[in-house]
Amino acid sequence: MYCSDQFKQVDAETFTISIPKDADFRILQLTDLHLGFGLLSRGMDRLALDAVRKIMKKANPHLIVLTGDLIFPFLPKTGTLNNGKQAKKLMEFLDSFELPYTLVFGNHDCELLSACDKEELAGLYKQGNYCIFAEGRKNLTGVGNFLIELVDESGNVLLPLVMLDSNMYGEGGWFFSGFDRIHDDQVDWCMERLTALKQDNPDIKAMAFFHMPLREFKEAYEKMKLGDKAVLYRHGSIAEKDEYFGISKFKSTFFDRAAENGVIKWIFCGHDHLNTLSLVYKGIQMTYGMSVDYLGYKNIKKSYIQRGGTLITRSADGNVDIAMVPIGSVVSTRVRGANLLLHG
Ligand SMILES: [Fe+2]
Ligand SMILES: [Fe+2]
Repeated sequence: MYCSDQFKQVDAETFTISIPKDADFRILQLTDLHLGFGLLSRGMDRLALDAVRKIMKKANPHLIVLTGDLIFPFLPKTGTLNNGKQAKKLMEFLDSFELPYTLVFGNHDCELLSACDKEELAGLYKQGNYCIFAEGRKNLTGVGNFLIELVDESGNVLLPLVMLDSNMYGEGGWFFSGFDRIHDDQVDWCMERLTALKQDNPDIKAMAFFHMPLREFKEAYEKMKLGDKAVLYRHGSIAEKDEYFGISKFKSTFFDRAAENGVIKWIFCGHDHLNTLSLVYKGIQMTYGMSVDYLGYKNIKKSYIQRGGTLITRSADGNVDIAMVPIGSVVSTRVRGANLLLHG
């Protein structure tokens, strides 16, 4: 586990990082690295690790948040099912930056037939020298539901970061049953924690990080394309084939409850590697992180407009800026659809 004078574990599901009050604090979101560390993935792994090094150089963050599908225990593409070894290799790489990092699981980190389950991976990640991770409450769905609170030197919470496991596949268990979602017990937990923070500070604003996009993201995109001025475009595009959103077929209450609760103002996800869109809907900015993947999608090596990271800058005055950090010089800001009105 990360160790620093600025860092504290408060309880089994809460950490604090003390940040300077008169300087910017930069968080870099990285997503969908799909590292194999196997015989078949050496070339693609090298490219992915190089890409992360380049993004790190450009972004110069204080904290890294990884939103899932970091490792890829998928035999046909990597030649290994040993996700324990993959996690250790990833940690070794991330530790080399000597900066704190934290993560949530995606749907591939513990792919079917892989060696370690999420609890075992959690145990490994907690050993990372710069890693911040907690399993969270045992009775909650998922592994890795926890909070990192950015605080000032007196311990006042400036910006809570909610980390959530958006789980893997639906009721049937594997891929064909569709993607899962954040379950109601997790939503209850999250809102309960945020409500407590709101009681201390009615103006508190939080960020949530998880792997899967919400169905409300798709809903907002579709409304935006129809010219609905209630949806504000911020950056990026939907570049998946047929404007695909890898959402769950099961309804999650997360978005509605978050909008009603009012504390979460920013949501960051990954999962759809070609989507980089960021928009504001019902007071919440939803952002697809730029992805790193060279291995998961067929021929993605040749695509480049989606590759990079997402830099979240909190200024000393509390303002938050979210920007794409492409590894190349070109990004897609083309949003498909006729007569599209872009706002903001
Ligand atoms: Fe992925
Ligand atoms: Fe995914």
